[in-house]
Amino acid sequence: MQPHFAELAFASAADAKRFRVHKMRQIAEDTILATRRLRLRAANLADVELVWSASRFDGFNDGMTWDPPGNKAELVDIAHRNLREWNAGNSFTFTSELIENNVAVGRVGIRREASPSVWGVGFWVHPYYWGCGYAAEAAHAVIHFGFSELSALKIVTAHAIWNTRSQRVIEKLGFRFVGENPCGYEKHGQPVAEYEYEIESSAL
Ligand SMILES: CC(C)(COP(=O)(O)OP(=O)(O)OC[C@H]1O[C@@H](n2cnc3c(N)ncnc32)[C@H](O)[C@@H]1OP(=O)(O)O)[C@@H](O)C(=O)NCCC(=O)NCCS
Repeated sequence: MQPHFAELAFASAADAKRFRVHKMRQIAEDTILATRRLRLRAANLADVELVWSASRFDGFNDGMTWDPPGNKAELVDIAHRNLREWNAGNSFTFTSELIENNVAVGRVGIRREASPSVWGVGFWVHPYYWGCGYAAEAAHAVIHFGFSELSALKIVTAHAIWNTRSQRVIEKLGFRFVGENPCGYEKHGQPVAEYEYEIESSAL
């Protein structure tokens, strides 16, 4: 008789936990998360125009760690990398599309942090679609995905102190303020101070 997973011999309880967590992170590339107005699917090559167009807006990238791409070929490479990371179970980048017309409007990513049960969330929306509540709606679905499919115990996020739009989205999602990090990330060679937040599954 094949042994049940619970009957496999592990060197320690920690090894057994790592095995279970690893098994749960095999997320199919065709996974869809649906919300009232949005369909979230794995980011792919079809999104090059979305990212290129959004990143042409002055200041769009200032609140994020990545810089505007210099050409579209860079975005093709990044799309391949995103899918590799997805299949490796390290990070899951979703593109949000409007259900009503299939137009792509933004992204939400969730990636593993240093501790296996802690995941970090980031989001953006194409400036054409700001102010419609899409960021919060999409991020809410990904946070739920993190707790239910990735076995996250805690999800963290952060925003540059000046980024009050992002702050408002994070507040709407129910994150708890943790503190200020004077060097959350670097932009143009300068440290950017961030406010950091976390949420636990019990808060949903
Ligand atoms: C941050 C971002 C995703 C917000 O997108 P959005 O579509 O405007 O988000 P939402 O519509 O869900 O919510 C925005 C909230 O900010 C509020 N808001 C709008 N302009 C604001 C401003 N200047 N200051 C403070 N709040 C503001 C809106 O009223 C809304 O709150 P409400 O629902 O209580 O009215 C978008 O601005 C973006 O993509 N920015 C560039 C990338 C980025 O900075 N990402 C976040 C990295 S941490």
